[in-house]
Amino acid sequence: MNSRHRPRIRHPARSIGSAISSSRIHDAPVGPNSARRSHPPTLVELAHEALSSTEHGYDLLAPKFDASPFRTPDRLLDVVREELREDGPWDRALDLCCGTGAGMRTVGPLAYRITGLDRSRGMLKQARLNHGYEATWVRADALELPFRQAFDLIVTFGALGHILPADETRFLDGVWHALRPGGTFCLVTAPMPPFFSPAHLASRTFNGLMHVRNALWRPPFVMYYLTFPLPEVAAELRRQGFDVRLRPLSGRWRRVTLVVASR
Ligand SMILES: C[S@@+](CC[C@H](N)C(=O)[O-])C[C@H]1O[C@@H](n2cnc3c(N)ncnc32)[C@H](O)[C@@H]1O
Repeated sequence: MNSRHRPRIRHPARSIGSAISSSRIHDAPVGPNSARRSHPPTLVELAHEALSSTEHGYDLLAPKFDASPFRTPDRLLDVVREELREDGPWDRALDLCCGTGAGMRTVGPLAYRITGLDRSRGMLKQARLNHGYEATWVRADALELPFRQAFDLIVTFGALGHILPADETRFLDGVWHALRPGGTFCLVTAPMPPFFSPAHLASRTFNGLMHVRNALWRPPFVMYYLTFPLPEVAAELRRQGFDVRLRPLSGRWRRVTLVVASR
């Protein structure tokens, strides 16, 4: 895309409709990206967060999230942005499960109006602190999206492990309805690693521990690896009516595929 045609964010942050519960987030007296200079969470803090609910766990983690390994790396987000650039620009874009706003950097230069949605108040507060440009912030559950044909682009990064297999169809259905006809949904995923590979074994071990934790402890903390793998996610998107294109990334991200699904 020619830089002359590159969109600039010039609209003030605002709600998109009456159905949207735009959160009131109060700024703390710290500057942009302050969390990225902080220390990563300790194991004790992570254990405390994991014994909380998914929502409150992220509230607790929020001030240190950007220094944690759970934030999607900028280098991957930069590659995704360049991949998407040729399809844009878009009018309205949504970063679904935006966390502290990592993906907002990706969609920011690609759309005129950007919205970040997350269920954690703490993560939204940090996201707002992190951002130098205007955006709309919505506190809502990704399984109960309060939008109808509102966006031209929806992206989600690093959050699919929070959607249980039983909720996958409902999640994708919400995305479908939130998109305008012709709109695009993007996610990053990979095929299931070979059964006896270290990645597979480590992920299964983690998932097993989370199942035990959730069987013994309330409220649950929903976070599992190996979710939305290829080719299953592409098949499910097609079942929902999406036109799906798979764009394998290269270099250090060669195991990862960008899934671009058009409504
Ligand atoms: C691992 S973080 C990823 C944040 C960011 N997208 C990134 O890539 O760095 C997952 C985020 O998903 C949010 N989340 C989890 N389940 C959610 C749900 N059902 N609805 C909305 N947000 C959810 C969490 O609050 C958290 O901010």
